[in-house]
Amino acid sequence: MEERIIGLSEELLEYRYLTYYDKTKENRYINYKLQHSELSWEDIITRVEIGLDYTYYCEVESISFPDIFFVLVNKYRQLSREYIPGDLEVIAPEYNSSTLMLRHSARIAFEEMCQAAVREGYILKAISTFRSFLYQNQVYYKNWLEEQPLEQYQAERDRVSARAGHSEHQTGLAVDINDLEQTFEYTPEGIWLREHCYEYGFILRYPKGKEDITGYDYEPWHFRYLGKEMAYQLQDSGMTYDEYYVRNLRNAD
Ligand code: DAL
Ligand code: ZN
Repeated sequence: MEERIIGLSEELLEYRYLTYYDKTKENRYINYKLQHSELSWEDIITRVEIGLDYTYYCEVESISFPDIFFVLVNKYRQLSREYIPGDLEVIAPEYNSSTLMLRHSARIAFEEMCQAAVREGYILKAISTFRSFLYQNQVYYKNWLEEQPLEQYQAERDRVSARAGHSEHQTGLAVDINDLEQTFEYTPEGIWLREHCYEYGFILRYPKGKEDITGYDYEPWHFRYLGKEMAYQLQDSGMTYDEYYVRNLRNAD
């Protein structure tokens, strides 16, 4: 074991040039590599930087600048109970299932995307957008039966719903579209969205096959506004937003 660790430490030295490498986390990188030898060092470092070597919700960082449009919210990063974006606007009724709101830029981009979809014969409607901390708490606990052990409930619920403060919906930059069913993936609207969302600055936030990185089951309906430039870059990279953020953006916020 000693020899293996020495060997890994030597290998790791070659990656110190990476901008997202953190010398203070070298022991964590090595421990994670011991458990996931199939992953490249770049992926090991990225995943440890996300926090994935820790249990979800155990090491939580408070988000200092929640208004930054590229804010990352996940099981390791929390928005405050009070945080509500200051520029929420109601989406046009034809693309809205009630009086749902997004932040100004996301609202404009969403309506543009819906208009483009209509021109091609597809109907898009927002079914969930901004959710306050308290509302997210209700969403998270809505299926909990008093007699059910909390840990058991959380283990199942954490796959599909964020705990309060940890939902991207609280940023006012996330939108669920049309249908909360996995089969949405195969509908014409689901297919169109996957192909075109980048053109309007949106990304699919919880992709299929990346559940171990995002911490959530595939959500073919959940899109996050990032702006066109970043959305295109993310698409080209093939990364999840969690990976892209720690590699490229974390030091900028
Ligand atoms: N369903 C997503 C992960 C949320 O609750 O924010
Ligand atoms: Zn969602």
